[in-house]
Amino acid sequence: MKRKLLLLLIVLGFVAYTFWSVAASNQSVNDEYDEDEYGPKEPIVWTSPVKGVIFEHKTHTLETGLDCDSCHDDNFEMLAGMAEDEDDFTMKSMEEGRYCGNCHYEGGFAFSVKTRCTSCHIGVRGVKRLELEIDGEGRK
Ligand code: HEC
Ligand code: HEC
Ligand code: HEC
Repeated sequence: MKRKLLLLLIVLGFVAYTFWSVAASNQSVNDEYDEDEYGPKEPIVWTSPVKGVIFEHKTHTLETGLDCDSCHDDNFEMLAGMAEDEDDFTMKSMEEGRYCGNCHYEGGFAFSVKTRCTSCHIGVRGVKRLELEIDGEGRK
């Protein structure tokens, strides 16, 4: 009798553990990207002076481990489109260490603005494609 009870307990324990681990793994799959922790989910796209340049918070915070302070608010305002209004939002400024060039320079910890143009420059078509994707998700 005691043995049967013990066996039952073991079986129940195993079933409970299985449920728990399946639930836990679903949880991590469904975990939402946390905008408070990593910044806005949607990429920021500038269309001036050239169309268009993309910036993603995710690659800079979640994937690279940068703090908000490393860009805000000294280098960039927390409002999309602000830098675009400045006359000096140019490659020359960046080569002198401003804006993206604060980190993206030769020998810096991110690739230089003098290389890999298309990592940042997605062009007119890139912007169009992105607008379509975003429209598809019902965002502005
Ligand atoms: C590597 C630089 C960088 C880091 C790190 C960074 N941001 Fe940003 N953030 C930007 C840039 C660039 C913009 C756009 C500014 C502009 O267009 O003038 C921006 C814009 C924003 C905006 C405005 C978005 C909108 O649609 O108006 C918010 C909110 C924001 N950041 C939050 C955060 C938070 C929270 C963190 C930290 C978790 C963070 N950012 C870290 C560069 C950064
Ligand atoms: C505070 C430092 C910092 C600033 C400012 C910064 N970046 Fe970065 N960026 C990084 C680091 C670190 C990486 C990852 C290392 C690498 O790819 O060289 C990175 C990677 C990237 C990548 C490659 C992402 C990928 O998919 O591999 C792009 C594109 C990029 N940055 C664009 C920008 C743009 C555009 C700006 C200006 C609006 C900017 N970054 C400003 C630090 C910065
Ligand atoms: C780290 C990201 C980044 C890289 C790499 C980069 N750019 Fe830019 N570029 C920008 C940003 C941000 C702007 C200003 C926003 C806009 O014009 O939409 C800009 C603007 C420009 C402009 C218009 C303003 C000006 O300076 O005349 C030209 C032209 C340009 N880039 C060419 C290039 C070329 C060529 C390369 C490669 C040698 C390059 N960029 C690499 C981010 C980058």
